[in-house]
Amino acid sequence: MQNKKKPQQKSNQSNSESEDTVPWWKDAVVYQIYPRSFQDSNGDGIGDLQGIIDRLDYLNGKEDSLGIDAIWLSPIYPSPMIDFGYDISDYHNIDPIFGDMYTFKILLKECHKRNIKVIMDLVINHTSDKHPWFMESKSSIDNPKRDWYIWKKAVNGKVPNNWMAAFGGRGWEWDESTQEYYFHGFTVEQPDLNWRNPEVRNEIIKMIRFWLDLGVDGFRLDVVNYYFKDDKFRDNPSHFFNGIREYERQDHIFDRNLPETHEFLQDFRELLDSYDGDRMSVGEVFMHPPGNAELPASFYGLEKKELHMAFNFSFLFCKWDTRSFKKVIQDWERNLKEDMWPNYTLSNHDQKRHITRYEKGNQTILRAKISAIMLLTLRGTPFLYYGEEIGMNSDSIPRKFIQDPLGVKYWPLFAGRDNCRQPMCWNKDENFGFSTNSPWLPTSKEGSITNVEEGSKNSNSLLNLYKKLITIRKKEKALQRGSQKLLFINNDKILAYIRIYKEQKIIILLNFTQEETRFFSGDEIGGYDRGKVLFSTNRKEESYFDLNIIALLPYEGIIIKLET
Ligand code: NOJ
Repeated sequence: MQNKKKPQQKSNQSNSESEDTVPWWKDAVVYQIYPRSFQDSNGDGIGDLQGIIDRLDYLNGKEDSLGIDAIWLSPIYPSPMIDFGYDISDYHNIDPIFGDMYTFKILLKECHKRNIKVIMDLVINHTSDKHPWFMESKSSIDNPKRDWYIWKKAVNGKVPNNWMAAFGGRGWEWDESTQEYYFHGFTVEQPDLNWRNPEVRNEIIKMIRFWLDLGVDGFRLDVVNYYFKDDKFRDNPSHFFNGIREYERQDHIFDRNLPETHEFLQDFRELLDSYDGDRMSVGEVFMHPPGNAELPASFYGLEKKELHMAFNFSFLFCKWDTRSFKKVIQDWERNLKEDMWPNYTLSNHDQKRHITRYEKGNQTILRAKISAIMLLTLRGTPFLYYGEEIGMNSDSIPRKFIQDPLGVKYWPLFAGRDNCRQPMCWNKDENFGFSTNSPWLPTSKEGSITNVEEGSKNSNSLLNLYKKLITIRKKEKALQRGSQKLLFINNDKILAYIRIYKEQKIIILLNFTQEETRFFSGDEIGGYDRGKVLFSTNRKEESYFDLNIIALLPYEGIIIKLET
């Protein structure tokens, strides 16, 4: 095994970072790829690893690349694809739809050549029901792997308790042949592992080592707060008015967020820290309805180090309204202790894309630009979702094409998540350059503001705005690492903040409205009459901005460097 370093024992998040030792993931812009939909290389209509390799120059390594520093790949392991890879049947391999281990190793090498880190999806709350572990477990009551999953006898002829599956319906599935129920937190085909069984934990740790030894740079942990379940299998208390579905009406105190998870995460972190190269972890702390930052913060580790980051999904639920974004920023800054590093994301593979959430006629593109400036200038790692840089939207998909199990079976009224998983639009060709064959999900001309080829040529495009912002973020340490303070907090039209790193001060002003704003800055900026425009949606870079009067055009976004 290469890449190993001596285990370091640190008791909390803090580490003695200096200018040169800031871990890469704090400075990074991460780009999530949904592999089925990025680029198809073999003409089967489904994206694959070779397709990603073919498109790496778009992501980094060339002068006109997007400039991202890491890709997070949604699951690429062998899977029956009931939940499109979130149902894994072999943790040590690559699904033939996507390629093979040899191609994966090339992908890793080609990414590293371009300074792109690779983050794998770690789905270890559950496996597929076709995983050999579950097949064995299901085969008989006394199979040695029986206890690797959560099996229970019926209670008075009924399900063992009131736990529900997050996708809908009871979490318990009856197995006729062994006359017991097994628990599944998602689809019936995704049985939950029994995390109380030490053999399961050992096997998972071994598997994590396998990928670390191969050289992957980090993991995104699927539903990290689900692993452990109450050992007494007590009913969750119900709150009648909390939501429409029974799942939402429960207080999930016995099937989520159990303290035992933190013990595992401490071991997991020690394992990551025993490798060189700052292997990182980011966890999905599943909350429904979305809550504040207190729970995610606890997964960074309060006593001992745990995850490097827990996802901040709050922007996914913000209305187009500065107050709602400000609330999230304040909440994260308040709840994260000094050494806990924030992160922000606007779109992912589970939610309607933000372009669609904030759609408003010809203001849509302006909103997309303002939100991109916000995401790429806030303190914390930005997570981009493939296609947001070209303004891909969540066009509704005709019902006959819907494939997501949520849309087909569990929650048909909601139509599922396919509309945020459509093929990437590379150019104007048939199938938008994604595939020579008809894609696994339909795309349409209206499905994106631009495509990569056209967007690259137009200096005013959303794509070029993303490229510029990423370049500026990398150049200006204040944007990557600086402290942050909200300004003009009571002004509901604009979102404004200052980022400070050593002598460097950068102010970001974002007008979220269609109206001009004009007001005296008073003493909020203190001592500066003007600043140099590093970037603006409306005015020339390198021009000067008068800081005494904050005058912004409708939907203007501007980044200003203060000069001493
Ligand atoms: C969360 C993932 O983001 C989602 O796509 C998946 O369906 C569930 N976990 C189950 O793994």
